[in-house]
Amino acid sequence: MRTKKMKWLMMLLVIMLMVSLLAGCGGTEEPAEPEEPAEPAEPAEPAEPSGEDVTITVAAGAVGQELELTQAAAERFMDENPGVTVNVLDTPDLAQDRLGLYLQFFEAQSSEVDVYQIDVIWPGDLAEHFVDLNEYGAGDVIDEHFPAIVENNTVDGKLVAIPWFTDAGLLYYRTDMLEKYNFEPPTTWDELEEQAALIQEGERADGNPDFVGFVWQGDSYEGLTCDALEWIASNDGGTIISPDRMITINNTNAIEIVDQAAGWIGTISPTGVTGFGEEDARAVWQGGNAAFMRNWPYAYSLGQGSDSAVAGNFDVSPLPAGDSGAGAATLGGWQLAVSKYSENPEIAAEVALFMANYDNQKIRAVEGSLNPTIMALYDDDEVLEANPFFGSLYDVFINAVARPSTATAPNYNAVSTAFFRAVHSVLTGDTDAATAFEELELDLQDITGFDIE
Ligand code: GLC
Repeated sequence: MRTKKMKWLMMLLVIMLMVSLLAGCGGTEEPAEPEEPAEPAEPAEPAEPSGEDVTITVAAGAVGQELELTQAAAERFMDENPGVTVNVLDTPDLAQDRLGLYLQFFEAQSSEVDVYQIDVIWPGDLAEHFVDLNEYGAGDVIDEHFPAIVENNTVDGKLVAIPWFTDAGLLYYRTDMLEKYNFEPPTTWDELEEQAALIQEGERADGNPDFVGFVWQGDSYEGLTCDALEWIASNDGGTIISPDRMITINNTNAIEIVDQAAGWIGTISPTGVTGFGEEDARAVWQGGNAAFMRNWPYAYSLGQGSDSAVAGNFDVSPLPAGDSGAGAATLGGWQLAVSKYSENPEIAAEVALFMANYDNQKIRAVEGSLNPTIMALYDDDEVLEANPFFGSLYDVFINAVARPSTATAPNYNAVSTAFFRAVHSVLTGDTDAATAFEELELDLQDITGFDIE
């Protein structure tokens, strides 16, 4: 993971250098003054395929099988559209790093990337850099998608991105282990703790010193915001900032559960979990060395793969509950947006709409267990056969808890960064949750200007 991070850091540096050169600024120390925002690029340039080849670059994710799946969709588009080359640009795994890369392109108003894969939390923060897909034919298909995601992607009436796949946090558990130790899947965090501790102890005694109870996303990044929001929401501790723009994070229920999670480090979870992203957790899990894992649906098909040590021996359930009595899953997911700086926005929009259409979402669902945003795909037999949990956990997907990105736009990334840093400092034992959240609420007030509840 570190190597991949390094690779991306290098790439960011190169891009920063390019951006400053482009902006006519020789030094790399000071970021180039952004030009006066140019008049928004006129979207409606008629994109007559002029006989000349057009290249469309799609900046896409590479977690799990994402990159291969996106490349395959690009091939299908090219088969149907001779004269168009679709390049897929591999971007960093961690959401913050990917955002950093995108911001460099935006600052340069670069036409290098035409289509961006954007997180469900970014439409509000990034809306100004994208075209309105309503003006490029999305209106014909948008009603097929979950209305809540369409609403999330609509900023001031503008459809910033077409929904591509949705995500919700799940609990992965080892069916063979629960059978061996005579447990039912845990429904509360306390039960999970108890089971994870006993299974870990038993498996270590049975000769696997690497076995751990529970892996999840504890690195200081967006993934931790997702995990921590699940703990807090399941414990009746709110959503950091409420939809009506009150700062709610400094409350006893939130404090209590984050302190509880800090107690997992070095007990049921490895100390290294405070540096784990999704793929680190999956590596431990898929190697057969964890009883439980919190992750997104993409890990399901990979876990059932022929090279997985846990194939046939795991299932998924809703995440455990705290005081609220019900588990909470954070809403995740990714969309495709067309850059306002693209030289070929019409063709770029065609690519985006193609990649997000029924057939392509179906392939991604069947092959990569990436949850469709097109509702009818949840009735599709092949999709359900590959992913029975799309049906059995349907409620989890449609009731997933949103991060406060709409309420805090365009400052969501700053809000989330302050939050995950505060939680991370509790996990690493630098402070306790009461102290961390007392400071955090003031930071959030500075960032947003909202009142504290
Ligand atoms: C997944 C989710 C995304 C979230 C990210 C955090 O990719 O789909 O919404 O921000 O994980 O790591």
